[in-house]
Amino acid sequence: MKQESPSLRHSSKRISSFAKPVVYFLCILFAYSLGYLSSSTRNNSKTPDHINTVVAHVNTVINSVIESGDHNNFGAVCGEAVMSQHIRHKIMERVFKGTSPWENFPPSHVDNLLRKKWVKGWGSNGAVFENLIRRIRPKTIIEVGTFLGASALHMFELTRRLGLDDTQIVCIDDFRGWPGFSDHLHMKDMRMVNGDVMLMYQFMQNVVQANATKSVVYMPFSSGSALEKLCEWGVFGELIEVDAGHDFHSAWSDINRSFKLLKPGSKGGVIFGHDYFTAADNKGVRRAVNLFARVHNLTVQVDGQHWFFYIPNRLSSH
Ligand SMILES: C[S@@+](CC[C@H](N)C(=O)[O-])C[C@H]1O[C@@H](n2cnc3c(N)ncnc32)[C@H](O)[C@@H]1O
Repeated sequence: MKQESPSLRHSSKRISSFAKPVVYFLCILFAYSLGYLSSSTRNNSKTPDHINTVVAHVNTVINSVIESGDHNNFGAVCGEAVMSQHIRHKIMERVFKGTSPWENFPPSHVDNLLRKKWVKGWGSNGAVFENLIRRIRPKTIIEVGTFLGASALHMFELTRRLGLDDTQIVCIDDFRGWPGFSDHLHMKDMRMVNGDVMLMYQFMQNVVQANATKSVVYMPFSSGSALEKLCEWGVFGELIEVDAGHDFHSAWSDINRSFKLLKPGSKGGVIFGHDYFTAADNKGVRRAVNLFARVHNLTVQVDGQHWFFYIPNRLSSH
């Protein structure tokens, strides 16, 4: 028997999965052309019904591709929710083997390279933070993309000012920045140790300076793996900021994964982020936010340069 080569099998599999919508589409086009040619009356001012039917079918195909494809599938159902007062402990246990990373900080090899305080961000003190924290009064805030901690520490100060003394802020960042980021005007002085830009250590130092080591906890990993783990561990938040990679695919996956972690409290929940109006990264953030809103039937709201989705607590009476 003739053996089918692996590459042939692979391509025929690809063709068959690709072929279904294409065949469907061609059938619709064929049906359209038959209907159009056999139509006896033509009304130039009104779209014929069979054309509307074809358009509706095409939209259905497109929507089903958007809604059922792998690019829309972000893993399993999350674990059972951990109570907010246990979230810090859970992360300390799972990420740092139960010992605070601030114990014996800073290590001697970076001690004299860190600045006492160096906080730099982008729109990190915008009015949106205070507006949302006042509205939601979150017990747990998750921030995806922390950098030196400007927005995280601003949120820490706001929670304390608003009497939310127990609020924990979970920061996710791989603390690598992005290629060439230290060429940025304000980053020229960034010191390196064997090619490491020391973002994590400087962030930790900033948290010490802000007296926030008991209220901030962090996960020094890629956003995808950290968000997946939080989901698995049942760590949810009422306020989630998404501000890591700004290209479409990064923003799209971070928003989808973060949305799974949103657990509206009595005042509802919000997922939000910066750079809705920026043209950078081919408007990646805005395209991802708008697509997500469309797929989930949500309304995008804006506050300055920030976008947000408000989700009411479906169990509350108001
Ligand atoms: C714009 S900065 C965050 C600024 C911060 N929210 C503020 O306002 O102060 C983006 C951060 O996202 C982080 N980042 C980008 N892509 C990431 C990824 N895939 N996983 C983890 N962190 C990422 C970078 O290291 C950088 O620190």
